[in-house]
Amino acid sequence: MDTRLSEEIKRLTALGLHRRCVEGDLARVAGLTLEINRLKKERNAVVCAHVYQTPDIILGIGDLVGDSYKLADDCRRTEADAIVFCGVHFMAETAKILNHSKKVYVPSSNAGCSLSEGITAADVRQLKAEHPGLPVVTYINTSAEVKAESDCIVTSANAEKILRRMYERHKAVIFVPDRFMGLNLARALGKIPGKDIFLWKSSCVVHERFQPELIDVYRKKYPGLVALAHAECPSELIKAVDFMGGTGDMMRYVESTNAAAYLLVTECGFGELAKLRFPEKNFIAMCRLCPYMKSITLESVLALLKDPAPREVLVPEAVAAKAKVAIDRMFELAAG
Ligand code: 13P
Ligand code: SF4
Repeated sequence: MDTRLSEEIKRLTALGLHRRCVEGDLARVAGLTLEINRLKKERNAVVCAHVYQTPDIILGIGDLVGDSYKLADDCRRTEADAIVFCGVHFMAETAKILNHSKKVYVPSSNAGCSLSEGITAADVRQLKAEHPGLPVVTYINTSAEVKAESDCIVTSANAEKILRRMYERHKAVIFVPDRFMGLNLARALGKIPGKDIFLWKSSCVVHERFQPELIDVYRKKYPGLVALAHAECPSELIKAVDFMGGTGDMMRYVESTNAAAYLLVTECGFGELAKLRFPEKNFIAMCRLCPYMKSITLESVLALLKDPAPREVLVPEAVAAKAKVAIDRMFELAAG
């Protein structure tokens, strides 16, 4: 075997990837990661990987890894000429908005998001006309055009904090597009939907379907279990768990606690990564796959690096400039 390939197999094995590969598949993965990492250097490209990506992508080729907030923040600082976004399209668009002079790419044409696709800029203008004077607080899972119509962007990592800041100045807000996240935030802040917070109707196809009644079934089966759920889950489920947050908050919670077992109610990639990061802890995954996130593979990243042009993410300059104001407002309020 080629020495570079056997070195790559050793590197991936040290990261624990052999435990996530079927028999004999590690050599195929190593061949791909080797070539991708070589092309990355040649093109001065950086790979951003969201935690819902598969471990071969995150550990094998990821340079910047994390939740939506961390990836957006990291992208602001990168010195690479090109950003290859292993995540969904709105995340790549956000990277482009924050780095308009850089090339940004997404490896799949199917990397959408049900939340992002559930609302248009015209819908936001309509909401503003119905509730004049109210600020529009928009979840990052939206298109650049929707962001451009917004006053402030939030992610699951900072939505509660930023909404609190907003309520210091405004009696009510418009929150789009995730209805469940909006209801969960309203409950956490003691606000009344339809009076203090006006919501849109979209939801995440992955998180909307988890069944709250199963949480108790798991608790009985695994004594000492701690249940964590993403803030995009329906409120009935959130009421049944011990912790609600974004993926970054959930990972930090796992890292800083020592429960008998963790039930992770979110996309399956999160649990796969948690098992690799904390092999000594017990994880029970009540998970579903996101078809958009999972449309990205090592093969699609390699194809992109060989022929990037078709996968370039473009945002018109005027839209990017307006959207950036709302994203920068998030960075300012999240840090303050
Ligand atoms: P996080 O920002 O919590 O990683 O969430 C992104 C997402 O799309 C969750 O479904
Ligand atoms: Fe969008 Fe849901 Fe997939 Fe996250 S998990 S990218 S919110 S569809």
